[in-house]
Amino acid sequence: MLPAACWIVSCDEDVVALSPMKSSEFSRAVLDWFAHSGRHHLPWQEQPNAYRVWISEIMLQQTQVSTVIPYFLNFMQHYPDVHSLAAAPIDEVLHLWTGLGYYARARNLHRSAGIVSRDMAGEFPRTVEELCELPGIGPSTAGAILSLGTGTRAPILDGNVKRVLCRYHAIPGWPDLPAVQKQLWIIAEDSTPDKNFAAYTQAMMDLGATVCTRSKPLCENCPLREGCRALAQGTVNEFPHRKQSKAIPTRATHMLMCVSASGRVLLEKRPPSGIWGGLWSFPELADARQIEEFCHQWLGNANVKPENWPVVKHTFSHFHLQITPVHVATGTEPDGAMEPGRWLWYPLDQSIPVGLAAPIKELLLRLQELP
Ligand code: ADE
Repeated sequence: MLPAACWIVSCDEDVVALSPMKSSEFSRAVLDWFAHSGRHHLPWQEQPNAYRVWISEIMLQQTQVSTVIPYFLNFMQHYPDVHSLAAAPIDEVLHLWTGLGYYARARNLHRSAGIVSRDMAGEFPRTVEELCELPGIGPSTAGAILSLGTGTRAPILDGNVKRVLCRYHAIPGWPDLPAVQKQLWIIAEDSTPDKNFAAYTQAMMDLGATVCTRSKPLCENCPLREGCRALAQGTVNEFPHRKQSKAIPTRATHMLMCVSASGRVLLEKRPPSGIWGGLWSFPELADARQIEEFCHQWLGNANVKPENWPVVKHTFSHFHLQITPVHVATGTEPDGAMEPGRWLWYPLDQSIPVGLAAPIKELLLRLQELP
């Protein structure tokens, strides 16, 4: 990076001299903007503490504010503090998380709540390093917990802040590359003011979410437009630089939806790790032959007639999943040799108080609608 005071930016033939703001001017511009255009009434901003900010930050990873708000309010009603979350059964926590996705977040919340409640007498650690020892907390979430929840100065570097800083400083390279991250953390630390850091933290998130957006940024409304290098170069849409994309593979699987004559459906608890770890699902089988074997072995009836439903597609960060749902109507509900705690015949006409992945929930709704 050139020294901040002498940026010379070349766009085509023109040479534009930029006078970038000093850190104190940068944070002042962001704070002034926040006073009139920031978000001030989000539920986790009321009576902020480390616990409430932590829950909101984890929910807000990969999920929009408008989606998170009802989940956050419901979570706070059930678990107003870290002790109540720690004491809750994991199935109930996963149930309250159903629909938010990325269920490892909920399992980590539950594990971390156990640690803070039992080993730390309910007091969250006061440093970034110690917070990062808790499952599911990284440096940016730790910074947000400290600055928004406990009045301790700490920088953050979430996706929104990375975008603002990458554009403002025209930083090349994919922002999650270690060398680029390192540079961004130095800038984030340098830009965080010594006072009003909670407002500044929220302001940077809000600026990224509402003005310096990924597509169609509203540069004319930006408090940083005077010093923004990417804007001066006419390259705002190029920053942050994208990761070299790799095609992700597709996996295919079958899900067996056994429904008994009394209207109950067979669910299986998935292993604790892997996709949808710990959630309830339909038994998953590789192909038609395994389905036939399963029906023969567990349903004790070779005469059942499996019926394939249209394929359901679901995309994870690292692969696409093509699910062929297979519907089977059985007379009885055999559970003879099935491992207890892993299998459940659940009445379809009742809401299911356990964690379910989104495609499973959708398929259950379709089963409920069958005549
Ligand atoms: N995204 C991450 N943290 C947030 C917060 N505190 N407010 C709004 N959006 C956010």
